[in-house]
Amino acid sequence: MFIKYHSSSKEFHLSNGNISYLMTVLKNGHLGQLYFGKAIRDQEDYSHLLELRPRPMAPCAYKGDLAFSLEHIKQEYPSYGSGDMRDPAFTIEMNNGSRISDFVYQSHVIYQGKKKLEGLPATYVESDEEALTLEITLVDEVAKVEMLLSYTIFKEYDVIARNTKFICHHEDGVKLDRAMSLSLDLPDAAYEMLEFTGAWARERNMKKRKLTHGIQSVYSMRGCSSSNYNPFIILKRENADENQGEVLGFSLVYSGNFLAQVEVDTYEVSRVMLGIHPNNFSWVLNKNESFQTPEALLTYSRNGLNGMSQQLHHLFQKRLARGEYRDQPRPILVNNWEGTYFDFNEEKILNIARTAKKLGIEMFVLDDGWFGKRNDDHSSLGDWYPNLEKLPNGITGLANKITEMGLKFGLWFEPEMTNEDSDLYRAHPDWILSTPNRRVSHGRNQYILDFSRKEVVDSIGDMMEKILSEAPISYVKWDMNRCMSEVYSHDCLPMNQGKVMHQYILGVYALYERLIQKFPHILFESCASGGARFDAGMLYYAPQAWTSDDTDAIERLKIQYGTSYGYPISSMGSHVSAIPNHQTFRNVPLCTRANVAYFGTFGYELDLNKLSEVEQEQVIEQVKWMKEYRNVIQYGDFYRLVSPFEKDGNVTSWMVVSKDKSIALVGYYRTLQHVNLGYVKIPLVGLDPDSLYHVSIHDRNLYGDELMNVGFSVSDAMSGENKEKYNGENGDFQSRIYILKKVVN
Ligand code: GLA
Repeated sequence: MFIKYHSSSKEFHLSNGNISYLMTVLKNGHLGQLYFGKAIRDQEDYSHLLELRPRPMAPCAYKGDLAFSLEHIKQEYPSYGSGDMRDPAFTIEMNNGSRISDFVYQSHVIYQGKKKLEGLPATYVESDEEALTLEITLVDEVAKVEMLLSYTIFKEYDVIARNTKFICHHEDGVKLDRAMSLSLDLPDAAYEMLEFTGAWARERNMKKRKLTHGIQSVYSMRGCSSSNYNPFIILKRENADENQGEVLGFSLVYSGNFLAQVEVDTYEVSRVMLGIHPNNFSWVLNKNESFQTPEALLTYSRNGLNGMSQQLHHLFQKRLARGEYRDQPRPILVNNWEGTYFDFNEEKILNIARTAKKLGIEMFVLDDGWFGKRNDDHSSLGDWYPNLEKLPNGITGLANKITEMGLKFGLWFEPEMTNEDSDLYRAHPDWILSTPNRRVSHGRNQYILDFSRKEVVDSIGDMMEKILSEAPISYVKWDMNRCMSEVYSHDCLPMNQGKVMHQYILGVYALYERLIQKFPHILFESCASGGARFDAGMLYYAPQAWTSDDTDAIERLKIQYGTSYGYPISSMGSHVSAIPNHQTFRNVPLCTRANVAYFGTFGYELDLNKLSEVEQEQVIEQVKWMKEYRNVIQYGDFYRLVSPFEKDGNVTSWMVVSKDKSIALVGYYRTLQHVNLGYVKIPLVGLDPDSLYHVSIHDRNLYGDELMNVGFSVSDAMSGENKEKYNGENGDFQSRIYILKKVVN
């Protein structure tokens, strides 16, 4: 691993042996982008990669030099207005109204390790040998603003982490209207863009489009990263598939408004940009004030989409997630939401918990409805003290009883919200985001607390801390159930209103940090009406996230498959719920419900007492199974095999392989049972070619090379000829998990 600066050519080369990132100081002092991709040898001069050619109509920076136009130069962190006509990485407005800037290289430092980002989530190192960082300082002498571009390269992960900081030295201050975390100019446009789109209950469905001229983007202006789009995009070559070919991944470590866009100009240069959405963002910087962008990650793989995803999976698991649970198998829980909704009392909860214990489940999570006077979703958010009518012994009494049974206890909060009908709102009506003299929209009957204000965050934090210190609580589900509207802070100058949405997220991060520091043993699961804040930023605080409110196993195939492109299995909250399913009314067999939920954190979300004895026996076996294999599932190497987004989507398959390649689990899911089909083989990946594996279900010993090259038979037995053949393992919504174990001689 190295970061080199070649002073004769003024070029920087970052490499970890697998990837190289090259840039140069241009003639005008700006930074030019030379290359990002598979590692290439280090040499003094790669300046020929700039390919400067005179082009008609281009504004040229220097008289007589027709080849030097910013319009045609691949840049690191471009600005608009001095020749470059594309979308810029940043915009600064000076006090005189000018929006032209000219940031010129001044100096750089290279050091081992990686600095923390104050108040923001970011990847980290545990020892300085794990990464190298390059910080380049550029200065605009007229605006008197300093810009710090930071690049970290990791030894173990093929990832570059970037961020930008602006420091104002101008007496009159400046205003930042756009400040992206990353901009990358790629020399051509022969890519497909993969994005993860959806809505509530159908999050992160993968969509693919060919790059084309103009701007293509995904974004959120909802105040959260959203279930509609995700702050993660992929560019892949058309011939790249899951296991081979060139793939680039771009992930923003941030949970608020974002923009992820690719602009293809008419010379086929692709400019990728990732950062806070500029709409509704403006940041006034007074003298000596600074602005720090969130971190953005870029990763590169020649090993296809699986190769790219695994880089992010491992980085997120090991150097983004934190805390005691980072490396631990996640507790198998039962959550009462779909089991009881708001209709519970202490006895009902204890009854579910008793059965949970009997079935081997490890944690009980009490969801919405335990606080204030909350019996439906019209009241009490913000009143974080127990509803004594439902729970006469409070949370402490209930949690004690549950922990005495030998179960852990977890609790739901929605810290950022309040209802009109709440003590909190009655006392502080100005604590919500709302614009003076305008209608305030509500969502799920609730308002959004102004988390850009410290006293609001502190007061919610105090209430949460009280509960969390008094009761034995091992887990917190932090929910957030509506998008922002009429954003305006009542405690903020007019000129600073453009800061509010970002400051809100900083408030969320600050409260998370406070609670994590104070309660290091608590496992946090983030949630936003299911998966509306499933992003890398959240994973820094909460190593797992509720993937979707859609708990139907068949729907979950797409949701979990889509999520796996950018996020590790250990981060996906996944539960077995009742049938008919509450979102789809579908009846999926209990075995398939578990076979899907195993590939996540695993738990149940139903009233266990409503299961038949036979079903309870099945649950006992499922819990045992998950305890045996969760370490492999949550911390092994995950590979997508057959995509529900391709062909007719009827079959989905994925697998995990333990780090030492001694165990592999193959999940095979078939939505509809077709009749009399051909034979089907799936080539496996990631096994040791020379090892013999015992394959369950087939009950045969097969070598890794056969399983990976010839493929692995998943052909359905003949179906449909007579109904006596129905054995519960055929028919619709069926699945199998094959266990492959290395045969030890
Ligand atoms: C959201 C969450 C659910 C549940 C409810 C409770 O919708 O995603 O899991 O916690 O809120 O109101």
